[in-house]
Amino acid sequence: MELTRISFTPKQSTSPCDILIGEGIFPEIRSSLESMIETPSSITIITDSNLKKYAKGLRKDLSKYAKTNIVSFRAGERQKSFQTAVELLSKFAALGVDRKGIVFCLGGGVVGDLGGFVSSIYKRGITYFHVPTSLLAQVDSCIGGKTGIDMDFGKNQVGTFFQPRGVFIDPNFIDSLPKVELVNGIAEMVKSSIIASKRLFERLKRSDFDSIDELKRFIADCCKIKSKIVSADEKEDNLRSILNYGHTVGHALEASSNYSLSHGRSVILGMQAEGWIAKELGIFAKEDFVQQEEMLKKFERNGDSIRPRKKELLKYALMDKKSSSGIIRMSLPEKIGKMHRTKSGNYLVPVSEKLFLGSISRL
Ligand SMILES: NC(=O)c1ccc[n+]([C@@H]2O[C@H](COP(=O)([O-])OP(=O)(O)OC[C@H]3O[C@@H](n4cnc5c(N)ncnc54)[C@H](O)[C@@H]3O)[C@@H](O)[C@H]2O)c1
Repeated sequence: MELTRISFTPKQSTSPCDILIGEGIFPEIRSSLESMIETPSSITIITDSNLKKYAKGLRKDLSKYAKTNIVSFRAGERQKSFQTAVELLSKFAALGVDRKGIVFCLGGGVVGDLGGFVSSIYKRGITYFHVPTSLLAQVDSCIGGKTGIDMDFGKNQVGTFFQPRGVFIDPNFIDSLPKVELVNGIAEMVKSSIIASKRLFERLKRSDFDSIDELKRFIADCCKIKSKIVSADEKEDNLRSILNYGHTVGHALEASSNYSLSHGRSVILGMQAEGWIAKELGIFAKEDFVQQEEMLKKFERNGDSIRPRKKELLKYALMDKKSSSGIIRMSLPEKIGKMHRTKSGNYLVPVSEKLFLGSISRL
């Protein structure tokens, strides 16, 4: 089997992360595990209600290696909550998981964020791996060790930085992903290109986003972009904030819709708003802003009923983790493939409330 391997150890960390990408990867997982870690006392696979059949397949392969259990929760962003985290922790305890137990998060970004979170706090942290099954998880969320849950005061407001020991990506999972979910991954792919790779942007421009086989070809490129950024700045002291392009407005829209607006659609709208702010500030070159607009227009959908409540969005933006001392801060593009740095080298730019609200009016 042809495997792509990306390994990195974040600068501020001692623990490496190995990413393996290949079609039909399950049989590889067990042999790779042996080279990565000592034999675990148990394996717990966390998954959601839609993906149990895949979890059972993985359990079949892994149970020859160590006692393997599956724990699951109802699919959906609304389950990325404290309550589900507590339920999972109780299940770990009931199964007798100890510090030598390991976890596999098999699923989309919700399983990954939640599974990573409980792995990071159970017994003060146990080793975990990702097996991402959605396009979004394969091109973005499975890398970087950001874990988290949503709270009533905002999305991802509670969480940890905790690197997975490994990530196993099988692009064939995408074949069964509902079409409507694809846009979530595409949004993060487009974001990756705008923040870091003009070449990827040009390839995406020529792409037929309806072809799943074509989408699969971008997975490794996106993983390389993200691992390079995380490797340089694991804890988001500066550079890593560029991965949040489109997400200040995006997360606010998502939370204020009570998660009826998907992450991908929110990020697309978020990039439209934040790109416009960058252009108004004279940061984003006009011709590149136009190119971004043309790209994002492809994903406009009439069915998306967004009723932006400006005051509420402003509240969420001020709660955003990049904002501080009551000032909204965003990472903004200078041109396609390059993010702006202030004179002092900071990737975050203060944005006035007036400009923020102006960008919302455009949506
Ligand atoms: N940690 C990070 O760095 C990071 C980065 C980006 C996004 N995220 C988070 O990721 C989440 C969104 O992830 P998502 O879009 O994967 O959502 P998701 O996990 O809810 O998955 C979407 C739906 O697709 C189903 N699904 C997943 N894989 C499937 C497959 N192969 N076949 C059939 N159905 C499948 C799931 O069961 C779910 O119903 C958000 O919570 C977002 O905040 C985290």
